[in-house]
Amino acid sequence: MTKLLNGKKLAIEIRKEISKEIEKKIRNKKKPIPHLGIILLGNNSSSILYVNRKIQECKNIGIQSSLIHLPVESSENELIKEIQKMNQNPLIDGFIVQLPLQKHINTDKIILSINPKKDVDGFHPENFGKMSLNMNAFFPATALGILTLLEKYKIQISGKYTVVIGRSRIVGRPISILMSRKKNIGNSTVTLTHSHTPNIKYYTKRADIIIISVGIPGFLTGKMIKKGAVIIDVGINRIKNGKNLFLKGDVDFHSVYGKASYLTPVPGGVGPMTIIMLIKNTLRAALNRNRSSK
Ligand code: GUN
Repeated sequence: MTKLLNGKKLAIEIRKEISKEIEKKIRNKKKPIPHLGIILLGNNSSSILYVNRKIQECKNIGIQSSLIHLPVESSENELIKEIQKMNQNPLIDGFIVQLPLQKHINTDKIILSINPKKDVDGFHPENFGKMSLNMNAFFPATALGILTLLEKYKIQISGKYTVVIGRSRIVGRPISILMSRKKNIGNSTVTLTHSHTPNIKYYTKRADIIIISVGIPGFLTGKMIKKGAVIIDVGINRIKNGKNLFLKGDVDFHSVYGKASYLTPVPGGVGPMTIIMLIKNTLRAALNRNRSSK
C-alpha cells in the first residue's frame, strides 16, 4: 500500500503554528509585522502563478508583502537597482527574486547582489555555504519543505540510501546536502544524479528514497524503483489537454502508486510546503531584525 504525503494538510498545520508565533513574538510585543518583498521580472505564467500563491499565503497568515513587477525587457542593472532598494529598505525583512530569470540576465550576479541577511530563499553563497557546513543560515524553502514532510511522517532517513535526480540550486543541490548532513534529519547516503548521468535506473532501483526535480512529466516510472521506496516528486508540469490545463509531476503516478511506500501527490505534495517554508524564513528574518535593532 502506498501512503500519500499530504503537503497541503501539513502546510495548514504549520500555518497555524506560524500564526501563533507571530501573535506571541510580534503582535503582542507591538513589533513591526514581518514583510516579504518579491521581485518578478517578465510574464512567465508559471512564475506569476507561484508569486501570486506566495502573496496569498502572506495574506492568509497576516504578514505583509510587496511585489515589484518589472517588464520583461528590464536590464540586469535595473533589476540590481530594485534589489539594492530592497536591501536598504528597513521595512522589508526578507525578499526573493523569482526564478528562472530571462537569458539576458546573469542569475549568479543577481543572487550575489542580495543581502544575505534578507535572502529568505537561501540562495546566496553565504547562506548556501553555511548550510553546506551545517551552520545556522536560511535554507532553500523547497528543500526545507521536503525535510519537514519526511520528519512529520516519521520516515527514517538516517542510514538510508537517497537518490536525488536534478541538480538545480532551487531543489536538487540543496536537498542532496541536507539529506547527507550530520543531523537527526540527515545521515543519509546520497547520490546526486542529473542529465549527464548514464543509466539513472541503476541508482534509482537501489534507492530507499528518491527525490526528483527535473521538469519532465512522468520521468520516474514504477519500473525504475524498488518496492517500498519513498518517492518525493517536486515536479510541477503544466500540461494542456484540449482547452484544459492540469498539473503533472515528474513521477508517473499510476505506475509508482502501489509500489512505493510513500509518495507525494502533484498537486498537494511538496508545492504547498515550499510556500509555507518561505513564510517561515521570512518570520525568522523579522525576528532577527527585531533582535539586532534592540
Ligand atoms: N522558482 C521556483 N522555485 C523558486 C523558489 O523557491 N524561489 C525563487 N526565488 N524562485 C523559484
